[in-house]
Amino acid sequence: MAQSPSIQWFPGHMAKTRRMIESHVKLVDLVVEITDARIPQSSRNPELPKWIGNKKRLIVLNKCDAADPKITAQWLAWYQAQGIPAIAVDAKTGRGMEKFLPKVREILSEEISRREQRGMAGRPLRMMIVGIPNVGKSSFINRAAKERRTRVEDRPGVTVGKQWVSIAKDVELLDTPGVLWPKFEDQAVGERLAFTGAVKDQVMDVELLAIRLLSWLREEYPQLLERFKMTPSDIEGLEDYELLELAGRKRGMLVSGGEVDTLRAATMVLDEYRGGKLGKLSLEIPPQEEQA
Ligand code: G4P
Repeated sequence: MAQSPSIQWFPGHMAKTRRMIESHVKLVDLVVEITDARIPQSSRNPELPKWIGNKKRLIVLNKCDAADPKITAQWLAWYQAQGIPAIAVDAKTGRGMEKFLPKVREILSEEISRREQRGMAGRPLRMMIVGIPNVGKSSFINRAAKERRTRVEDRPGVTVGKQWVSIAKDVELLDTPGVLWPKFEDQAVGERLAFTGAVKDQVMDVELLAIRLLSWLREEYPQLLERFKMTPSDIEGLEDYELLELAGRKRGMLVSGGEVDTLRAATMVLDEYRGGKLGKLSLEIPPQEEQA
């Protein structure tokens, strides 16, 4: 069985991302960091605050339709307690998107009044979207720009080759998101990223992952194991790997000789979680003690 999930990141890739973020950040008033509401902290790149300096930012907990609403509310309160503005949305259907522009204006209220005082009120507020792969950056941009999919002409002296999308009379969005890489030294963070599909299965042991997910479900949401026809008495006293075997057996995933096809069972468990079939499930809760 494979060891803990780990990924080698190429230093060149990191440097390129950092340079891209640092150069784009100069062009905007706000950085909008998209995260996955099921794993809000694990789906962030901890280096980002360093790269954006003191630029204002907004955290978007996307995919809130797939997360436990009670835990999402706890995360919003936690970010607020840290002084970091955050909203929860579902970019796929657009639920919660109505909070986005009012929040942007609230965060940038000082900038807006400064511009008004200087007679620059017509200058648009600009922002960029960043986030690790698969958190819904493109979906968010499409959703935000839905009503006004008009490209803004490049302005001489402002940007070369950048495309801005107007999302309100006075708000523009850089239409190419900044792709961050997920970063983790902690195995639990790597696992959460793999559970949601943010880290590709090719670099993970699928069976190990499914076993870890089933074991976590047994701890936190045992009733959800009924999806795999596993009752509380079925799972009592089982080793973690036996949970996967049982899930496969209950779904009739057998190979000749009556053995369970555990690879097929593992793929099924992960696909059903990722596809939201297990219900609204948060994989991470806010830290108990305050953290910057
Ligand atoms: P990215 O730019 O950050 O890489 O992410 P992207 O928008 O491509 O979204 C990645 C996947 O997440 C897509 O699913 C997308 O539909 C889904 N997604 C985005 N926002 C939400 C959300 O708020 N809720 C849920 N449940 N899913 C969301 P996919 O399977 O790759 O494609 P498809 O299902 O759209 O065909």
